[in-house]
Amino acid sequence: MKCVVINGTDIRGCTYHLKEMFLDELGASEVTEFYLPKDAPAYCTGCKRCFLEDERLCPHYEKVRPIWQAMVEADLIVFAYPVYVLRTPGQVKALLDHFGVHWFAHRPEPALFDKTAVILTQSVGAPNRAAQNDVKTSMEWLGVSKVKRIGFGMMEGVLWDEISAERKKKMETKLRAFARRFRGTAPVKKSLKTKIYFFIGKKLQESVLKKLPAGQSRSVDLQYWMDKGWVK
Ligand SMILES: Cc1cc2nc3c(=O)[nH]c(=O)nc-3n(C[C@H](O)[C@H](O)[C@H](O)COP(=O)(O)O)c2cc1C
Repeated sequence: MKCVVINGTDIRGCTYHLKEMFLDELGASEVTEFYLPKDAPAYCTGCKRCFLEDERLCPHYEKVRPIWQAMVEADLIVFAYPVYVLRTPGQVKALLDHFGVHWFAHRPEPALFDKTAVILTQSVGAPNRAAQNDVKTSMEWLGVSKVKRIGFGMMEGVLWDEISAERKKKMETKLRAFARRFRGTAPVKKSLKTKIYFFIGKKLQESVLKKLPAGQSRSVDLQYWMDKGWVK
């Protein structure tokens, strides 16, 4: 079983230790990890060359490509990150923006439709849900069919060493039970959400095709949907 982990911080702190417990219990045969912001692409410049021409023309393609490739090849996609000002850290969002080209509105990657993603977050004490939603929304619009999440409140401090052994044990027990659910993750059935978002994308491209003036060339997105045989 292949697992890719996108770490939202390269600090070896709370997120890191929780993620290590998760991986230890998961027992994946192959784990590829990326640490943001070190491995993150720079902010999207808004050039739109990915949408209008080819994602390989993105000025940050060299940073995005290995992460995207690892996600396409993985059985399980894991995002592990701290909550920053109640949302996902900027470096995670900067990465997600670069995946926009693979949303259903553009050129979705069918290899993602049977995948599972896990979102593992922690904060000092704030609710984690809004920060998790940023990644969950992206995963779903990319077509990932199963997205599960778990969040923790450190409560006792921002440094891992400040957290009591008792609290660490409590979190570890919960996290290991959660991780066991993903052992040997296999392809899942396409979710209703994936089917609905696919349908919306298909209708969009069909209407683009219908309105295409005679002699005008097709957009890269439309051509992609036609090449896949999804729009005729
Ligand atoms: C810039 C920044 C913003 C943060 N915002 C919040 C927040 O809004 N609510 C909260 O409970 N914790 C917040 N934290 C704490 C983190 O969620 C996290 O618990 C802490 O950074 C420890 O995680 P780490 O060891 O993985 O870096 C913030 C931390 C940073 C660095």
